[in-house]
Amino acid sequence: MSKGRGSRGDFATTLWNLKGLRKLHVKSYGCQMNVYDSDRMADLLTSDASYVETGAPEEADVIILNTCHIREKAAEKVYSELGRIRGLKREAARSGRNLIVAVAGCVAQAEGEEIVRRAPLVDVVVGPQNYHRLPALLARAERGAKVVDTEFPVEDKFDRLAPPAAATVRARGVTSFVTVQEGCDKFCTFCVVPYTRGAEVSRPVAAIVAEVENLARAGVREVTLIGQNVNAYHGKTANGGQATLGRLLHRLADVSGVKRLRYTTSHPRDMDEDLIAAHRDLAVLMPQLHLPVQSGSDRVLAAMNRRHTRADYLDVIARLRAARPDIAFTSDFIVGFPGETEEDFSDTLRIVEDVRFAGAFSFKYSPRPGTPAAERGDQIADEVKTERLARLQECIDRHQRAFNRSCVGQKLEVLFEKPGRISGQLVGRSPYLQPVQVMAPTSLIGQIATVRITDVGSNSLFGTLHPVEAEEPALAGAGG
Ligand code: SAH
Ligand code: SF4
Ligand code: F3S
Repeated sequence: MSKGRGSRGDFATTLWNLKGLRKLHVKSYGCQMNVYDSDRMADLLTSDASYVETGAPEEADVIILNTCHIREKAAEKVYSELGRIRGLKREAARSGRNLIVAVAGCVAQAEGEEIVRRAPLVDVVVGPQNYHRLPALLARAERGAKVVDTEFPVEDKFDRLAPPAAATVRARGVTSFVTVQEGCDKFCTFCVVPYTRGAEVSRPVAAIVAEVENLARAGVREVTLIGQNVNAYHGKTANGGQATLGRLLHRLADVSGVKRLRYTTSHPRDMDEDLIAAHRDLAVLMPQLHLPVQSGSDRVLAAMNRRHTRADYLDVIARLRAARPDIAFTSDFIVGFPGETEEDFSDTLRIVEDVRFAGAFSFKYSPRPGTPAAERGDQIADEVKTERLARLQECIDRHQRAFNRSCVGQKLEVLFEKPGRISGQLVGRSPYLQPVQVMAPTSLIGQIATVRITDVGSNSLFGTLHPVEAEEPALAGAGG
């Protein structure tokens, strides 16, 4: 998954061009944390007007690749992208420009100086905890230095990374991520995150509330709280106590203008009573939860160090369904973990049938350097992984299609986000996060409307605006 970011408007770019400002291109790979961090890096570098963002790498003076290390394929993407950028750097040099190339994110943290050795065109390597130092790092690179900064600093980068200006937020739309927690202490045996993002840290409640209020004032209507292990959140409160994610959600539900709250990604072990009760008590908390299980086999779950069993997981699902009967679940799966037998794998297929997930991501196990599972002697052959992945995906797709079909005929609340591909059409999201395409006036962007779902496409639902007036005639006479 990668996301090239757009330019902030032609007129502004032209003005900035005239002023001779340097142009910045940020490309994001990997999870939502990287998307959020990419926005914060862009905000930091554009806030004092030293850079202007561009969607076109060929016109950039600084390119930042915000990278992901989670699987081998993700990590290798950075090197193929750097291959392409080598040509751009040569062309820039020919026309007398010094193109600075920075590698940020989890590959930067995991590989450090190795990146500069393997790809000498790279000028800056910066780990996820050091983005607040970017202006100084880039300045050193512009003077010709190779700069590697992957220490875990003591200061809190969030205190130094400016919250986005209202105008910037408006340009980015009606939904927003807010990082509330970073890092992970779980050490699942397959995973690099505890090494690339470090130990768990939670942001204080007040800082998060201030950021969400700022977003809401600028027109954001849906906020997704993010963290590698978001439901392990335990942020400081104003009176020196600690808030759970459930308490934080209660506090944020009171922020005026925020119509929807979500959070991701959660660990099954940290779904505490507070959080489950929040699903019962808060209407703004959407009835959709991404809860990775990875495997349905107790033997594999133990070897993964997930610290929960299949029964624990099913119990959490049952408690959440009791709290919020319409809740839909999505998940992540890994197939071909070292030692996984056909019987283990059939337990995984069975858990998909048991939970009836509304969707899921599934991956072939990828051995990651430095993680315990990569050292094991009982690695599974790639053909076996490929074959199991195909069977799992067939099973997941079947349940996803069934879930989407069950929405046809229902009236769902849709938050409209942007114009659709067809003229006159808008795209929004259902409470279950499905994209919904509807013929609707652009004035509805940023608003929630009731939509009758009429059809299912391959990636989205289709619907018609529900004529509210027809059902609520009493409103016509109200106020008289
Ligand atoms: N914090 C989340 C997930 C973070 S990584 C959690 O606890 O589940 C996102 C997903 O990538 C994981 O859920 C897992 O399914 C997958 N993943 C992580 N490491 C992997 C590896 N070495 N090989 C294949 N998939 C992996
Ligand atoms: Fe990785 Fe496990 Fe932490 Fe998730 S909980 S980020 S899978 S170590
Ligand atoms: Fe990838 Fe790092 Fe996120 S490894 S999934 S970008 S935490």
